Amino acid sequence: MTKDTGNSSFSGGLSMESAVVHGLTPFDPLTGAISTPIYQSSTFRHPGLGESTGFDYSRVVNPTRTELEKTLAQLEHGKDCLAFASGMGAISALIKIFKPGSHIIVSEDLYGGTYRLFNDYYEHYGYSFSWIDTSDFSLVEKSVRSETKALFIETPSNPMMKVSDIRRCADLIHQFNGRLIVDNTFLSPWFQNPLDLGADIVVHSGTKYLAGHNDTLSGFIVHSDEAAGQALRNIQKSEGATLAPFDAWLTLRGIKTLALRMEKHQQNAAKIAHWLRGHNKVEKVFYAGFADHPQYELSVSQARGAGGMISFYLKESAHVPLLLKNLNLILFAESLGGVESLMTFPLAQTHQAIPEAMRLSAGVNDRLMRLSAGIENAQDLIADLDSALGKCVTKTE
Ligand SMILES: Cc1ncc(COP(=O)(O)O)c(C=O)c1O
Repeated sequence: MTKDTGNSSFSGGLSMESAVVHGLTPFDPLTGAISTPIYQSSTFRHPGLGESTGFDYSRVVNPTRTELEKTLAQLEHGKDCLAFASGMGAISALIKIFKPGSHIIVSEDLYGGTYRLFNDYYEHYGYSFSWIDTSDFSLVEKSVRSETKALFIETPSNPMMKVSDIRRCADLIHQFNGRLIVDNTFLSPWFQNPLDLGADIVVHSGTKYLAGHNDTLSGFIVHSDEAAGQALRNIQKSEGATLAPFDAWLTLRGIKTLALRMEKHQQNAAKIAHWLRGHNKVEKVFYAGFADHPQYELSVSQARGAGGMISFYLKESAHVPLLLKNLNLILFAESLGGVESLMTFPLAQTHQAIPEAMRLSAGVNDRLMRLSAGIENAQDLIADLDSALGKCVTKTE
C-alpha cells in the first residue's frame, strides 16, 4: 500500500490569506494530522552514529518550532526565522551579532523594554545607541557615522504611531554597510513586509498579533541575511532562550486567523479613533490611519493597513485613573494585539523604564493612553469608552 502524502508542503505562490491558515506544512505527512503535532520531547533518538533525523536536541531544533519558524519566514518573505521565548529574547539575541563598540541608531519612540535592554545592559557591554525620532529622515541622516552598524526602528512607533520611511532608512544604512532592523510587531506581516522594502532583519513580539490571544509569549527574528543567520543560529543554540513546543503550537494556531483578526482589529481601531476625536474629554488622537496623520502618504506607500493600535491624550491627567477604573469591557492591562481590547497607561507601564526627558520628548506624558483594539463589537467598545469617559469628572469641573 502506498502512502498518500498529498501536497504536505506549500512552495509559495499562495495568497497570504491561505498561507496563514495552512502554514508551511498543511498536514503531518506521517499521520495526516491537520494541526501541527506538539513534539514535546527534549531529545531525539539517532538511528546510528553520524546519523540524524534532522532533530537531535530541542534547544537547537524542534519540529513544532521549525514549522512555526518556516511559516513566519514565508509570511515575512524572509529566508529564515528563529523563534525565541519572547520578543525581548529575540531582540537581545539579535544585538549580539554586532560587536561591542558598534553604534546603533534607535527610534526614540519605541517599546520601553527595548530601551531598558539597550540602555541598562548593552551600553555597559560597549555598545552605543543614539535615540532619535526616526520618522524625521533628516535626523537619521545626521546621526549615521562610520561605526554605525544598524538602524533599529519601530514603524508605526510605540506608542505615538509615528511612521518611519523603511525604504530610505534601508538605502542610507546600506551605504554605511549597516543593517536595517524593523520591529514589525504593530502591523504584523498581514499589513507590512519590511524585508520587501529593503530591511535586512525583522523582529516580532509574537506575543501580540501573531499569537493573538493574550495566552502566550513568543518572539521572532526573520531575515534574508546569510551571514547574520549563521551567527544567530549559534547565539540561539548557545544561549538557549528558544520557544517551547507548546508555545510554538499556540503561536501557530494564532497565526491561522491572523488575516481575519487583523482586518477586524483595524476596522475597530478606525471606528474608535474617529469617535475619540470628537470627544470633549480627549485632546488628541494618534492613529496611522487618519488621512491627516503627518506621515499618512508614507504609511500608505509602505504598509497595507494602519493596524489596530491607537493612542490619545486626555485633556486632564486627573482623568487617567477615573478612565481606567470605569472601563468594563476594555481591560486595563499591559500588552497589545490580542482578541481582547486592552487599555494601557504607557507612563506607568510599557514606557516606565524610559527617563522622563526622553519620554516627554517622544510625547509620552501623564495624559497619554494607548488602546489595543480587540475584535469585539465596535459599538460595544465605543459604549464602554463613552461610559468611562463620562465618569471622568474632577472636583474642579
Ligand atoms: C513593539 C514591541 N516590541 C517588542 C516587545 C517585547 O516583546 P515580549 O513582551 O514578547 O518580550 C513588545 C512588548 O510589548 C513590543 O510592544
